[in-house]
Amino acid sequence: MTSTPFESTVPQITASILSADFSRLGEEIVDVDRGGCDFLHLDVMDGHFVPNISFGPAVCAATRRVTKAFLDAHLMISEPVRYTPAFVKAGVDGITFHVEVVDDAVATAREIRALGCKRVGITLNPATPVESIYPALEHVDYVLVMSVVPGFSGQKFMPEVLPKCEAIRKRLRPNQRLEIDGGIKADNIGTAREAGVDWFVVASAIFDQRDRAAAIAELRAACGTTDPHG
Ligand code: DX5
Ligand code: ZN
Repeated sequence: MTSTPFESTVPQITASILSADFSRLGEEIVDVDRGGCDFLHLDVMDGHFVPNISFGPAVCAATRRVTKAFLDAHLMISEPVRYTPAFVKAGVDGITFHVEVVDDAVATAREIRALGCKRVGITLNPATPVESIYPALEHVDYVLVMSVVPGFSGQKFMPEVLPKCEAIRKRLRPNQRLEIDGGIKADNIGTAREAGVDWFVVASAIFDQRDRAAAIAELRAACGTTDPHG
């Protein structure tokens, strides 16, 4: 696909490659692309901000080589601005930084954009007060609400973050998007949609399934829409 998820107002399913089989990553990406996911979510972890290490710019660049999909890099790292040039060079389309790691979220959003990133998102952990992102809201394109404590795929969805989604939704402009990440499955995606979420990050509920197209179709149906691509 060549369009960006910002052009759509229907719910978007974004596959996180964190649960893919890394020994055959290219095939895995093609499988979910063809299976109907809307774009890809790249979970970058530094072993410092979160207690896990995943991958960095090289894997993002490899992903870029096998798909035209929008690449949403979720930086779970302590110094997002320092590493932004490497991720831009790798070909990601959007970068999301955590409000917990920066002193000045407005300056961080501006810096990431000035370094050539087309779309900038801000994200917050389940324990982080929603008010912490408000000063930066007008400077970002999207907001990512974490519905698990970040670090690992396959964790249980935390419904207590849904009021946060509702509060953020009310403050977003029509051209901004709200994303949720962690524990999203067919049995909870509907409640997140009702709380105003546009984009749903899904790792295990897609990649742990044998038939990825069926898994994506089930998620799409459960959030109250059919395939926007027909
Ligand atoms: C968690 C990551 C998520 C994770 C989602 O730290 O940011 O993107 O991969 O995995 P699931 O969908 O399995 O909860
Ligand atoms: Zn993520």
